[in-house]
Amino acid sequence: MIDRRDPPPIGRVVATEQKPATPHQFHFWTANETTIGIGAIVRVEEEPGNPKGLPNGRGKGETGKVVYGVVTDGFAYSDLATPLHDVVGAEGDPARAAESPTVRQEIRLWTAAVLRQKPEEPLQPVPLGQVHVASDVDVAQALRMDSYLGGAQPTAIPVGLYTSGALEAPVYLDADFLLGPEAAHLNISGVSGLATKTSAAEFLLGSIFQHFPTHKGRIAAVCFNVKGPDLCFLDQPGALEDEDRRRYERLAVRAQPFERVRYYAPFKADGVNLNTLRTHPDLLGDVEPLVWGLREVLDYAEVLLNRDDIDAKADAFIDFLSDRVVDKDFDDGFGGAHRVVTFADLERLFRSIFDGLELGGGRGDTWRTHHIATIRKVRNRLSNISTRAKGLVTDDGPSNDLPWGRFEDRAVYVVDVANVDPLGQDLVFARVVSKLREHLERRDLGVEAVVVFVDELNKYAPADGPETYVKKMLLDISERGRYLGLVLFGAEQFRSQVHRRVVGNASTIVFGRMDSDELATPGYQVLSPATKIKLATLPIGELMVRHPHFTQPIFVRFPRPAVLRGRDGVERFPPAADLPFEDAVVRQLVKLDRRVRPNLVKDLIADRREEDVRRALAHTRQIRPQDALAHFRKQLGGRVAAAPAAARESVAPLNPISDDPY
Ligand SMILES: Nc1ncnc2c1ncn2[C@@H]1O[C@H](COP(=O)(O)OP(=O)(O)OP(=O)(O)O)[C@@H](O)[C@H]1O
Ligand SMILES: [Mg+2]
Repeated sequence: MIDRRDPPPIGRVVATEQKPATPHQFHFWTANETTIGIGAIVRVEEEPGNPKGLPNGRGKGETGKVVYGVVTDGFAYSDLATPLHDVVGAEGDPARAAESPTVRQEIRLWTAAVLRQKPEEPLQPVPLGQVHVASDVDVAQALRMDSYLGGAQPTAIPVGLYTSGALEAPVYLDADFLLGPEAAHLNISGVSGLATKTSAAEFLLGSIFQHFPTHKGRIAAVCFNVKGPDLCFLDQPGALEDEDRRRYERLAVRAQPFERVRYYAPFKADGVNLNTLRTHPDLLGDVEPLVWGLREVLDYAEVLLNRDDIDAKADAFIDFLSDRVVDKDFDDGFGGAHRVVTFADLERLFRSIFDGLELGGGRGDTWRTHHIATIRKVRNRLSNISTRAKGLVTDDGPSNDLPWGRFEDRAVYVVDVANVDPLGQDLVFARVVSKLREHLERRDLGVEAVVVFVDELNKYAPADGPETYVKKMLLDISERGRYLGLVLFGAEQFRSQVHRRVVGNASTIVFGRMDSDELATPGYQVLSPATKIKLATLPIGELMVRHPHFTQPIFVRFPRPAVLRGRDGVERFPPAADLPFEDAVVRQLVKLDRRVRPNLVKDLIADRREEDVRRALAHTRQIRPQDALAHFRKQLGGRVAAAPAAARESVAPLNPISDDPY
């Protein structure tokens, strides 16, 4: 993998009073024709015979210091004192300047930032020595990759190819610092379309899956698809060019799409058509509906409240509902017995509370210490979510969730929330991330580490704006996730628009082509003007990477991800049109059991209520019986025969909770 060619010297360090060499920076000159450019890595060797080497305590014949640096700026000079001399020499005619009898002396002078000195101690100014173009081995040394490339348990993850002139060297990230526990998280920023943020994340994820060291255990990824079809085809091969294949080979990464991908998408409002662009019949097989009921929503009800107001009273009432009401036999205190399982049941409870308070007259405006205004507020918020995120939040039967506890090694779980209402998106983020955290804490998720990829991070963890639950959670992952194996990969156009602590905690930072206005913001002051210009003009497929082992940012090129681009995906697999209710039900049943005959299903559901059909379908999906149609028929029959909720109340055991402190 490592190329051991030794390139010839290409320059020499110079130090003048005006431009001295320091322990962290030096200058060198090269011939006018050189392969060196901004971002090139060089090696400086102290010449053993050089008496200037003596201050280092080494005499002739001993090997001196070796310094690695990265070029951060470049200058060209001639021997002219002022521009006027040139004008006079050409008699004011630019065309005649070229006819000048003497060729002017011209030099290329470069500034480089020190990446590493060997030996590291004592830390001294860079010696005046020969400058070489770095080889593979030098790049590994310069970036301190030697510590994790070799050894008994290497932790190197290929990220791209460092390229300078004809030289090309693989650059690796350290899994311990990218995915925990030493440091963690990755942030990618850059302008839309040219920065290749989403592509870079996809490539790196593929590289991680192939190179994640076995001693670190199993790893999976949860990717939130927040934009169109972006991540809907991760299991399909994409178009690659020869250059991409060559880069894959050089990086020792196989150019292949992800092998295990599961897609989760909520339904549309009709409760039967999936709300995703991956609805082509050939691909629909591995899209699972994401369906949550009252219980799932109540657990994360905080999401619904603190968007616009933080209200301890409402919080307390929600806790009360969650702890004492839902899934329990409950007496409302006005003579009504309830068993609240669905939103509709809860609505009935609210109604009887309001009716009871109204009729009770004298009892005032509190119920079990909760003020009626608080109860109304919670009711509004809950009914709001069930209407705004209809299709995700359902009243119709069992929920369907990610496979908590059964996560598979090297699997990608794509959660498609691209077309979900922002409130619903928040709920999905909150619940999925909290569940990941919970299971990782208990070590029963099925894998030891999870990469959570959030594109358009500026929307979910903005630098300003209210402290939402989602933002708090992203902060929590950034600050504590690395101990748990919960790693955040975030991407956004403008880093300055993302919460400081979310980006600040990312140990690995990647930049694609940047906007120059963004580069003018204070966060980029550490970069040299030349590096900024390079960033503002970076070609597609090239990135600048900062990583804890690299003392300076490094430029790398990476191949196109080996997966089908979203845009191409919707062309090759055009999304199916929404089916009418009956056909959508048929399609889902056929998906569960190929033998299901469509006409039988249609006859069966012809005069049933849609919610009953959805409930029976959800149940069939949950059980996955051998004979899907028989099970579905039974569920449907049972539901219709059973008395609706009003009647259920009368048969529910009357259970006055006399010892209830409320
Ligand atoms: N390594 C690469 N080499 C050449 N082209 C690439 C490479 N990676 C991605 N591309 C191309 O660059 C284009 C933009 O990529 P991508 O969608 O990843 O950008 P983005 O930064 O996520 O954009 P947006 O902000 O709009 O989401 C795509 O058409 C993709 O095919
Ligand atoms: Mg993108």
